[in-house]
Amino acid sequence: MTRWPSPEGAGLVAHAAAWYAPAGAFAQRFARFKLHHDPVFAILLAQGLVPARARILDIGCGQGLLPAWLATASDCHPHSWPGDWPSPPVPTAYVGIELTPADAERARRALCGRTAWPCEIRTADAREALHDERAAYDVVVILDVLHYMEFDAQQAVLRDAVRCLAPGGRLILRVGDASAGWRARYSRAVDRIVQWLRAGRATPLYCRPADEWRRLLRGMGLALREIPLPADAHGANVLMVGVLAESTTSHGTAGDACAGAAGVPAQPL
Ligand SMILES: C[S@@+](CC[C@H](N)C(=O)[O-])C[C@H]1O[C@@H](n2cnc3c(N)ncnc32)[C@H](O)[C@@H]1O
Repeated sequence: MTRWPSPEGAGLVAHAAAWYAPAGAFAQRFARFKLHHDPVFAILLAQGLVPARARILDIGCGQGLLPAWLATASDCHPHSWPGDWPSPPVPTAYVGIELTPADAERARRALCGRTAWPCEIRTADAREALHDERAAYDVVVILDVLHYMEFDAQQAVLRDAVRCLAPGGRLILRVGDASAGWRARYSRAVDRIVQWLRAGRATPLYCRPADEWRRLLRGMGLALREIPLPADAHGANVLMVGVLAESTTSHGTAGDACAGAAGVPAQPL
C-alpha cells in the first residue's frame, strides 16, 4: 500500500466518518482521526484480508469502525476506489461485541439498520459472552483488545474465537509486542493516557512478546501469516492472520492445544 491516506483514501475516511452523523460529533471526529492515523483498516481492504461474503465477528469492536469502513467500501467502489486495491468484500453478517456501553451505543446509532447487511452490536464482556456462541464465522477480528484482559482471559477468549471459526476461517488479530523495547513502552504510555482521558483511570495492561502470541496461536491450530505494518504507525504492534484448516473441527482443536500453549508472562505491565 502506498502512503496512507492516499488521495482516494482521504475520501474514504471522510465518507466513513459521515456514517457517524446519527451518533454525534464526537463519534464523527473520532472516526475521522482514527481512520486517518491508523492504516490497519485500509490494509484489511488493500490486501484483501476479509473474504467476500464473510460472516464477521468483531471482538472489542469499539464504536464499530470496521463495519463503517466496510459499508463505506461498498458505497465507494468502484467510482472512488484506489486503483491498486481489490474489490471490497460485502459481508453477509456482522456481529460486534463491545464492553463499553457508550462505544456500543455509538456503533448501533451509526450502523444498525443502516447497512445493506445485518449488523448487530452486543454490549457484552467478551470474556463471558463467547462461551455460548454457536454461530460459525468466516472471520473473527480482534484489534487492540486483548491487552486489556488478564493473561488467562486472553487465552480463553482466543480459544472461544477459534472455536467460532468455520473450517477455513481466519482470525485477524492485532496485538502489542512486549519485546519491542522503547516502542512497546511508548505504546503502553499512549494507551494509559487514552484510558485516563476516557475513563479517568488506567487499568493494568497485560502484554506478551510477539513470539509468545505466535506460539499461542499456532498451538490453537492456526496457520499464521504476518502482515507488515508501516513503521511510523503503531510500531510496537503486530498484525497476524491465523487460518484454520478446512478439515479442522475448531471445537476440538482450540481447547486441547491451548492447554500446552505459551507460558503465561509473570506480571501485568
Ligand atoms: C483500543 S479499542 C479498539 C476498538 C476496535 N477494535 C478498533 O480497532 O477500532 C479496545 C476496545 O476493546 C474493548 N474491550 C476491552 N475489553 C473488552 C472485553 N472484555 N469485552 C469486550 N470488549 C472489550 C474496549 O471497550 C475498547 O472499545
